[in-house]
Amino acid sequence: MSAKKIALVTGTSSGFGLYTSIELAKKHYFVIATMRDLHKQNQLVAVAEENKVRDQIEILELDVTNKQQIPKVVNDIYERFGRLDVLVNNAGISFGGYVEETSVEDWELMMNTNFLGVVLLTTAVLPLMREQRNGKIINISSVSGSVGFPGYGAYSASKFALEGFSESLRLEMLPYGVEVILIEPGAYQTAIWDKSIDYIEYRKKENSPYQKPFSAILAFSKNITKKATDPQQLAKKIANIVESNRTKFRYPLGKGALVAIWGKALLPWKWFERIILQQLKK
Ligand SMILES: NC(=O)c1ccc[n+]([C@@H]2O[C@H](COP(=O)([O-])OP(=O)(O)OC[C@H]3O[C@@H](n4cnc5c(N)ncnc54)[C@H](OP(=O)(O)O)[C@@H]3O)[C@@H](O)[C@H]2O)c1
Repeated sequence: MSAKKIALVTGTSSGFGLYTSIELAKKHYFVIATMRDLHKQNQLVAVAEENKVRDQIEILELDVTNKQQIPKVVNDIYERFGRLDVLVNNAGISFGGYVEETSVEDWELMMNTNFLGVVLLTTAVLPLMREQRNGKIINISSVSGSVGFPGYGAYSASKFALEGFSESLRLEMLPYGVEVILIEPGAYQTAIWDKSIDYIEYRKKENSPYQKPFSAILAFSKNITKKATDPQQLAKKIANIVESNRTKFRYPLGKGALVAIWGKALLPWKWFERIILQQLKK
């Protein structure tokens, strides 16, 4: 068994995945940083070199929707290192669209990436973590895993599913020393927003009855991205949570996360929905 602690991170070509790999490497983890397209590794390599942790990071190909690739990556870790201390289920996509206009292909793409991908990869690592009676599984959810915003039904559904899955799994695995932790970010400045807006533009429906409210939602989203927080802050927080012996289950972090989650928990639903709809009219 390797003497070094091993971490596996998904979706490391940009954003949280990239910076979390760096922060874990800085804390002396050996990081298997995975991405679906190895042509996109330049940024990770450059940041790793800048931080002098390149030799702590190995980059592997993994598309979390690829059912054949998942066991290969996990078996490789098992055979080479004999241990896995941390899994960060980070890979994800986002796009908006009113429910009536979201195609079945888009539902499948969202659920396969943000939910089923996590289920399959997690299931693959559980035997190893259960046997070693130790491990942390960090699932990157969202404020949208607690609050369903209009125009983001598919994204919210995928993150609500992730939350329910994580709650059950946490209770199943605590007796085996394996901790499941949810990170619930608000808005952070990553590529996901531009990718989401590009996708919406590409799938745009001509003569949509929802054009006006959906445009307002998009304008609201674009405005949020301008003020969003630096993803490196979240990555540092994740690395600290990984290292800590006293962790919680849920971490709402970043702009808007606590307000939305507590607002929903404490306010009468009628008030809460009125506030959300008013925000979107501005
Ligand atoms: N940024 C925010 O404000 C925010 C807020 C709440 C939650 N989140 C969550 O944070 C996570 C990371 O997103 P981010 O904000 O860091 O955005 P990002 O920079 O776009 O990173 C997403 C990563 O996931 C990868 N990915 C997408 N589909 C994949 C697949 N099928 N297999 C493997 N990798 C895949 C992307 O790869 P490609 O480069 O190939 O697309 C990219 O590396 C996501 O789960 C997202 O839902 C983000």
